[in-house]
Amino acid sequence: MQQAKFSRIGFVLSAAGAAVGLGNIWKFPYITGLYGGGAFVMVYLVTILFIGVSLLLAEMLMGKRGGSDVVSNFEKDAPSHKWAWAKAGYLFVIGLIIMTFYSVVIGWIFYYLYLAITGLPTTLDQAQDIFNHLYHQSPWIQIIAHLVSVLIVGAILVRGIKGGIEKFNLVLMPLLILILVGLMLYAMQFESFSKALSFLFMPDFSKLSAEAIIRAVGHSFFTLSIGIGSIMVYAAALPKESNLFSSALWVAFLDTFIALLAGIVIFSFLFQFGGEPAKGPGLVFMSLPIIFAKLGTVGTVVALLFFLGMAFAGLTSAISLVEPTVMYLESRWGWRKSKAVFWSSFFYFAFGILMILSVTDTTQSYLMIGKKTLFDAVEFAVDSFLMPLGGILIAIFVGYAMKKEDVRAILSKDMGDTLFAVWYFSIRYIAPLAVLFLAYNALFV
Ligand code: PHE
Repeated sequence: MQQAKFSRIGFVLSAAGAAVGLGNIWKFPYITGLYGGGAFVMVYLVTILFIGVSLLLAEMLMGKRGGSDVVSNFEKDAPSHKWAWAKAGYLFVIGLIIMTFYSVVIGWIFYYLYLAITGLPTTLDQAQDIFNHLYHQSPWIQIIAHLVSVLIVGAILVRGIKGGIEKFNLVLMPLLILILVGLMLYAMQFESFSKALSFLFMPDFSKLSAEAIIRAVGHSFFTLSIGIGSIMVYAAALPKESNLFSSALWVAFLDTFIALLAGIVIFSFLFQFGGEPAKGPGLVFMSLPIIFAKLGTVGTVVALLFFLGMAFAGLTSAISLVEPTVMYLESRWGWRKSKAVFWSSFFYFAFGILMILSVTDTTQSYLMIGKKTLFDAVEFAVDSFLMPLGGILIAIFVGYAMKKEDVRAILSKDMGDTLFAVWYFSIRYIAPLAVLFLAYNALFV
C-alpha cells in the first residue's frame, strides 16, 4: 500500500505532536509537585537524554526501514522466529487501550473550556465540588464530551497522514507553543516566577525517594510516546533522505521544552496565589481554575488559552495513539480507511464508557479490579507494565534481531561512527536493563 509521505517539518511536528500531550501539561506538573520538584526533574531529564532518545531513535529506525504497519515492520526484519516476532508487533493495540481513558480526560478539558466561558469556580470547595461532581456523578456529560473527542480524532484520521495528521499538527503545534510562551511572558511579571524556577531546577536530593525515581523513569517513556508503535508508523511515512537522528533530537527537545514551559507557567501561578504544589491529579483541574477566576476578565482569557492549549496537546497525541491500529487494519486486513477508523473509534469509545462508569458512584462497585477502579487499573497497567514491555521489545529487536549492518547503514551517515557505537551500546544493554528495572520495581516493590 502506497502511503503519502510527510514533509520533514511535518514529520518532526507530528512526532512532537504525538509526544507532547496530556503527559506534559497535566501529568508532568502534578507528579513534579507530588515528588518534590528539582531532583525529580533532574532524574526525568537524565533519563530522557540517556535512554529516551535512544529508544525513540530505535523506534523511528524500525518504522523507516519497514515502511509499513507495526506487525509487518517486526516481521520484515526478523531473521528467525518470524511468527513470534510478528506477535510482538501487536503492541500497537496498547494505543487503543490508552485511548479508553485518554479520550475521557480530553473530554474533561472540553468541559473546562465550557466552564471558562460560563464561569469558573472561585473557592477551593467549589472547585473540588465541580471536579468531583463531573468525575463521580455526571456520566452523561463525560460520555458526550468523550464522544466529541472521538469524533474530532476520527475526522482527522480519515483524512490520512498528509491531509489530516500532518496538516492538523502543522497548525496546532506552533499554536500550542505560542500559547504557552504567551502565558509564560505573562507569568514573568509575578514575584513567584523565580520561585517556580528554583522549585523546578534546584535539586534537593534529600527529597528523592525510590518511588520518585521509578515515576520519573516511567514518565519519560510515556511522555516520549515510546513503545507502542505511534512514532514507528509516523516514521514509516518518512521520505527516503530524512535524517532520523536529528529528528529524534528535535522531538525529545520539543517534548521536554514544552513540559518545562508548562511547569514554569503552572507553578508561577500556583505560588503567586498560594496554591499547593502537591495536589495530585486534580492540580490543573482544581487549583488552577480558582486562580484564573481571581484574575477577572484577564483570567477568563488565560483560562481559555490554557485549556485550549491542553486540548490541542491531547488531540495531537490521541491521533497518534489510534493511527497504528488504523494502519494495521488497512494494510493487513485490506480494510478501507473509513472502515478502519470507524471500528477503532468504536472500540475505544465503547470501552471508554466502561471507564467512565467505573468511576461513577452508582456503578463503580460493578467495575472494580481488586481495590482499583477499572480506570485506575488500566492507567496503572499502561504506565508500569505495557509501555515498558513495548520499549523492551523494540530495544531487543533493534539491538539483537536486526542485522547490525542494516541498522548502521541507515544511521551512521546521520550520526557518525562514534555516536553510533554509543547509541548501539545503549540500545543493547542500557535501555533493556533500565526498562527491566522499571517494570520490576513497579510490579513488585
Ligand atoms: N506522549 C503522550 C503524552 O505525553 C502520550 C502517548 C503515549 C501518546 C504513547 C502516544 C503514544 O501525553
